[in-house]
Order: sequence, then structure tokens, then C-alpha cells
Amino acid sequence: MTPRRFALIGTGSRAQMYLGALAETHADAGRLVAWADPNPGRLDWSQQEHPQLGSPRRFDVADLADVVREEQIDAVVVTSPDHTHARHVVTALEAGADAIVEKPLTIDEQGVRDIAEAAERTGRKVTITFNYRYSPRNAELRRIIASGEIGDVTSVHFEWVLDTAHGADYFRRWHREKDSSGGLLIHKSSHHFDLVNWWIADVPTRVFASGGLRFYGAENARRRGLGERAPRGSVDDPRTDAFSLDLRADEKLKGLYFDQEEHDGYQRDRDVFDEGITIEDNLALIVDYARGATMTYSLNAHSPWEGYTVAVNGTKGRAELTVVERGSVLVDEDGRTVVDPSARPDLVSADAERPASERLVVQTHFAPAREVPIPQGEGGHGGGDQVLLDDVFRGPGEDPLGLTADWTDGVRSVVVGIAGNRSLATELPVRISDLDLGTATNALGSPVNPR
Ligand SMILES: NC(=O)c1ccc[n+]([C@@H]2O[C@H](COP(=O)([O-])OP(=O)(O)OC[C@H]3O[C@@H](n4cnc5c(N)ncnc54)[C@H](O)[C@@H]3O)[C@@H](O)[C@H]2O)c1
Repeated sequence: MTPRRFALIGTGSRAQMYLGALAETHADAGRLVAWADPNPGRLDWSQQEHPQLGSPRRFDVADLADVVREEQIDAVVVTSPDHTHARHVVTALEAGADAIVEKPLTIDEQGVRDIAEAAERTGRKVTITFNYRYSPRNAELRRIIASGEIGDVTSVHFEWVLDTAHGADYFRRWHREKDSSGGLLIHKSSHHFDLVNWWIADVPTRVFASGGLRFYGAENARRRGLGERAPRGSVDDPRTDAFSLDLRADEKLKGLYFDQEEHDGYQRDRDVFDEGITIEDNLALIVDYARGATMTYSLNAHSPWEGYTVAVNGTKGRAELTVVERGSVLVDEDGRTVVDPSARPDLVSADAERPASERLVVQTHFAPAREVPIPQGEGGHGGGDQVLLDDVFRGPGEDPLGLTADWTDGVRSVVVGIAGNRSLATELPVRISDLDLGTATNALGSPVNPR
């Protein structure tokens, strides 16, 4: 098999999974021919981290189209910040390559329109890597619903909590600006909205959202009397605490970000109680779906533990998936969050009351509940990452669950966040059919008016 020719754009932390695959596990299927990042230090670091990649051509982000043509690139992997996805995807498609894009597909209506037009005009393939689909527990829930065991879906109740380590991280860097990430309804929840679309095989039609910035940010800090704080975490300053991330304490964070600040000034460790944060940290939504189901959804970004609960009600019964990803956030002797808890087994006992766990229970009417076993594979996300990378680099094999996703799935998930953001601004429910999506409207299936 001749390896396909890849380019990659944006060599931050997410890119490392793709680079690792091209360097090692999937080197027979793909070759990294060219890569770009506005920060040359992150390219240097990535090259050192993956020496098997050799010396791919470095190019200026603005020259993507020329590079695709000159190097006969088959596919461009887009792992840059969310607000840049649409531009890079469209450029790649128009220059004659396929695109593999991280979630979210894009952050706004313009991005949706541009990607839909380019995909339809060029006929090129856009793969969106919704890795949560590949977690065996999520796939198992899909299997249960598709089997008809709980009947037709009537409603979904979905709560996701992000803890003060992971959740806080979105308030330290570009994610904290709505213009860069679309806020958590786009950046984070697009994963969750895709899962629901996929689990219940339906499309959203109307969204009502409520929420706000109630924990992070300067105003909340003032209200709670938190006092003066260090402007960033990687400093020897007594005003740091469990919300301060010290990049110097982790080899990867130091190499990828702290050591590269001189090139672009990107600080990945800014104080979460800063001025200027424009995204929400508490969100609640009601979403209607075309075939009649309703979802109640909530996201919290400052929980003491991390995980999710989803309950799907159907005409014949109910399925419940409960997941604890991290039972508690640990702090060291200096009062700072421990970046890598596996390096501090002495602190792990704090997790004992709420160990990492997953439980899928199905119950039909007039019958006892039964727990559904969740298969486990090797590697990240219960073996899901490996299957995702196989799909991306070798092409999907048998896919009875429909794990692979394209730009139309990206649209169906991101429109919930786009409508949600409009609803937050207007305080009114928003019909998806009222969004200006251009030809992407077709991707939503036949327009169905909400009940
Ligand atoms: N699927 C998942 O679970 C998952 C997890 C993390 C991140 N992501 C996604 O991956 C993407 C990257 O996230 P990250 O955490 O690696 O961010 P990051 O900030 O670590 O990396 C982004 C990289 O893009 C570069 N960049 C900045 N502006 C650019 C531009 N205009 N064009 C090209 N490159 C540019 C930056 O220098 C940086 O190296 C985001 O879209 C994010 O949503 C997905």
C-alpha cells in the first residue's frame, strides 16, 4: 500500500496524537509531507518528539493551497484553534485535498456556509474526528437504542460536569474568548450534541439556552472576595493556588508552550479569574429533535469531579449511562493542582470515595433492570483512539454503528451551539431553520417544524 500524503496545520497538544500515528503506528498508511504552525518552536518540539517523521516541509499557514498542489497532498489534518478551522478546511478542499478536522467543525454560521459550499463544489471528503463516539461505552448505548429495546426515544436527560482541573483549563487560554472558540456550547458541547444526534439518530430543530459566567472571571472572584491573584500560573508567586497551572511542572506543557512563548506570546496558563473572559461556565439547554424527542442538557465547568450522566427515555423503557472520569482533583503540598496524578500515588486515596467508573443500565417496563457489560480495548478511551486513527489513516472498515463522521455530522452538532449562543443573546428559543446556513441546511435533513 502506498502511504497517503498528509499535511498538518497547528502543532499544539491535540496534533500530537495524529503526529504519533503518522510517526509510528500508522506510518505504513500515511506520510507527513508538510506541516505548519505560526509558532516555529512548537514545530521544533514536535519534530524532536517524533523523530521518525524526518523533516517534513515547513510552510507558512497562508501558503496551504500552494503546498497542497506542489506536494500533491491527499489530506490535510486541521488541529488549529476552532475559529481557524473553516478557513483551513475550505483552502484544503479547494486546492484538491481532503480534510480531517478536529471538533468543532467551525464556530459560526459563516463557517458552516463556507465549508458546505466548498465540500459540495469540490466533492472532496471532510472527516470530523468525533472521538467520543469511539468510546466503547458510548458505542454500547448507541447499540442498545438502535436495537429498539427501549422503543422510540421520547426524551434525553444529559448532564456533563467538568472538574476544576480540566474545566478550568478552558478559561486559561484562547478558549476563554467566544470569538476564538464559540464558547463551551461550541467548543466542548459539540462533542455531546454529536453524541445525542448519533445515539438517537435524529436532528435538532429548536434550542433554548440559559447560562452565564458564574464561577470563573474577575467579577466572580471579586464577589467571592478571592483577593489579588497572580496573572499567570508559571511564576513563583505566593498568590498562586489550586487554580494556577504551572506549565514548568510538566515536561510536555513546558516544552510545547512555556518554552515557546518568546515566538508568539501565547500564554497557556493565564489566571482563570481574569478580566476579559467572554464564555459561560454554567449552561442549560432544552433541545427539540425532528422526530419528537426533547433533550434537557447541562454543562458545568467547575465541578469537584468529572464525568457525565445520560438517561434516554423510550416508549418501552429507559437506558442510563453513568460515568466518573475523575473522582476528585488533587492538590500538592504547595496547594497547586497536580497535573499528573499518576505521578503522585500517595495522593490518590482522595479518589477512593468516587473511583473512575462507568455503568450502563437498561430497564424495560415491568422488568428488572439489567447492567450492560461495556467492552474494553487497549489504549486511550477504552481502545477507541486506536479505532479512530485506523478510520482516519487507513479508511473505515466495517462500520455498523456509523462511527465515522463527515462535515454534515459536524454541522448537525455545531448548529445546536450556534443556536444556543443566539438564544443566550436574545433570551428566546431559536429554530435551527432560522439560522443562515446556506446550502448546509440540506445537511439537516428535511426541515421539520418543532411541535
Ligand atoms: N477531540 C478532542 O477530544 C480534542 C481535544 C483537544 C483539542 N481538540 C481540538 O483540537 C484543536 C487544537 O486544540 P489544542 O488543544 O491542541 O490547542 P493548542 O492551542 O494547544 O494548539 C493549537 C496550535 O495551533 C497553532 N495556531 C494558532 N493559530 C493558528 C492558525 N491561524 N493557523 C494554524 N495554526 C494556528 C498554535 O500555535 C498551536 O500550536 C481545537 O480545535 C480543539 O477543539 C479536540
